[in-house]
Amino acid sequence: MACTQVLLLICLWLSVSDAFTYLRVHNKSEVTVQDHWFTQRLDHFNGADNRVWEQRYFMNDSFAQSDGPVFLMIGGEGAANPGWMTQGTWITYAEKMGALCLLLEHRFYGKSHPTKDMCVANLRYLSSQQALADLAHFQTVMTEKLGLGNRKWVVFGGSYPGCLAAWYRIKYPHLAHAAVASSAPVKAVLNFSEYMDVVQASLSRNHSDCPRMVKLASDTLIELLDYKENYIKITKDLYLCEFLVIRSEMDISFLLDTIAEYIADVVQYNNDNREFEGVKGGNITIQVVCDIMSNESIGSPYDRYTNVIQTIMKSKGEKCIEASYQQFVKDMRDISWESSASAGGRQWMYQTCTEFGYFQSSDSISQPFSGFPLSYHVQQCSDIYGEDFNFPVVTAAIQQTNENYGGLNVQSSRIIFPNGLIDPWHILGINASLSSDLVALPMQDAAHCADMYPARPEEPPVLSSVRRRILELLTEWLQL
Ligand SMILES: *[C@@H]1O[C@H](CO)[C@@H](O)[C@H](O)[C@H]1NC(C)=O
Ligand SMILES: *[C@@H]1O[C@H](CO)[C@@H](O)[C@H](O)[C@H]1NC(C)=O
Ligand SMILES: *[C@@H]1O[C@H](CO)[C@@H](O)[C@H](O)[C@H]1NC(C)=O
Ligand SMILES: *[C@@H]1O[C@H](CO)[C@@H](O)[C@H](O)[C@H]1NC(C)=O
Ligand SMILES: *[C@@H]1O[C@H](CO)[C@@H](O)[C@H](O)[C@H]1NC(C)=O
Ligand SMILES: *[C@@H]1O[C@H](CO)[C@@H](O)[C@H](O)[C@H]1NC(C)=O
Repeated sequence: MACTQVLLLICLWLSVSDAFTYLRVHNKSEVTVQDHWFTQRLDHFNGADNRVWEQRYFMNDSFAQSDGPVFLMIGGEGAANPGWMTQGTWITYAEKMGALCLLLEHRFYGKSHPTKDMCVANLRYLSSQQALADLAHFQTVMTEKLGLGNRKWVVFGGSYPGCLAAWYRIKYPHLAHAAVASSAPVKAVLNFSEYMDVVQASLSRNHSDCPRMVKLASDTLIELLDYKENYIKITKDLYLCEFLVIRSEMDISFLLDTIAEYIADVVQYNNDNREFEGVKGGNITIQVVCDIMSNESIGSPYDRYTNVIQTIMKSKGEKCIEASYQQFVKDMRDISWESSASAGGRQWMYQTCTEFGYFQSSDSISQPFSGFPLSYHVQQCSDIYGEDFNFPVVTAAIQQTNENYGGLNVQSSRIIFPNGLIDPWHILGINASLSSDLVALPMQDAAHCADMYPARPEEPPVLSSVRRRILELLTEWLQL
């Protein structure tokens, strides 16, 4: 998800952080994967509305056998990355199981534009429920079109699409035979303050003093912000794109949140293998951050912290940090498909405000950061989408999501829930098996969606056994 404010999830598509934090989408795959188009309904929940649009999908039929399953990778909050059609663990399962592989891009992301722009009235067609119905219609029509008769479909997804994979199996059990829901935060929550608790715990794994150093540094930054005379220094230390201007509490929160997300991002993706997606900066791990934070020869904790931020920026090839809340809101209010926010920032923030929350506040006391409380996150909903998106509305919307899907109370079968335990998102996922066929696979030392990426020697040892287990379970379930 590149970007920053929104922070999120995203394995396949995004990450967090920058202008839109998340979703950093990179389409650098070397094999040319062709775009295919599917005529999709705009509104699945109004039979009288027959408007349609074109949804993008990818296909790899190289391994498909006539009696094999169909694998459907679910797109998420960013452009679908064609790299997944030739790489990633699911392709290795497809090869062994003779599966036809399909990936459906999520409505409103990438090239899948259901409406002429992203004005708020149009965004009401953006929801996980519409996305699940898109999958159902796609599966039904493709089964007919490709003559897939009674093939069994297995859905895959990581992060938000991991939720969609689980929910598709839960809501459409007649269509999905099984699901692999990697790092899926199935419980929606307004105040996701535990996110930063896990960041703290993960930072302390090899350097018990690392969170304290980060806290000292973060507190120093807050003290420096008290005096305008320090703004030149802060602008320079943090490589801000424009000279720092503070007009409101929101400006301060935005800066502190943006900086904290650099650290959170390292934790969430620690030592994973996303490089094939074109993501840069994978060499900056928790170890690298904490080695710098504990290196006294670099200066005070604040000096070390700015050194860390600069090191991360350098490895990602970023020249400066956009720290103006006003500019952020202006960008996020742009409804055009040509805008920078259309990479996913505007759409995903809308989904957090109307479905999931997941707001990573600094409200917990067991974590190193301060200055970006829950109220700051919820304020963004009304600043970007309008006054209607206020605290009670957002709170009720999140409750509705849990009522609809059940949160952690999953009543279904044949779903696998891999979760990396370094990754803060695991807190909102299923990390203990609920039955013999609702299987949790907690992964020690592993990051967000780590099981989905191509294997490599430096990875946490648990990943190879988890991948083997997923293959075993799918093989067993496909015989049922
Ligand atoms: C499917 O993936 C395999 C493995 O990466 C690749 O060799 C093959 O070219 C792909 N086929 C298509 C049709 O994209
Ligand atoms: C802790 O150190 C070990 C050994 O150097 C390394 O393999 C592991 O990745 C480190 N863990 C973290 C969270 O940095
Ligand atoms: C501490 O930082 C200095 C200056 O960058 C570097 O030369 C030294 O190797 C670092 N020490 C450790 C233990 O990483
Ligand atoms: C990380 O990789 C980037 C790009 O390859 C490189 O410029 C940078 O020096 C590396 N940083 C560290 C700390 O290894
Ligand atoms: C958010 O959750 C934390 C507990 O983790 C709590 O201390 C804080 O008060 C909550 N914030 C709000 C605004 O409810
Ligand atoms: C599993 O999730 C629960 C919340 O559902 C959390 O309290 C617990 O710490 C998690 N376990 C691990 C090993 O992370």
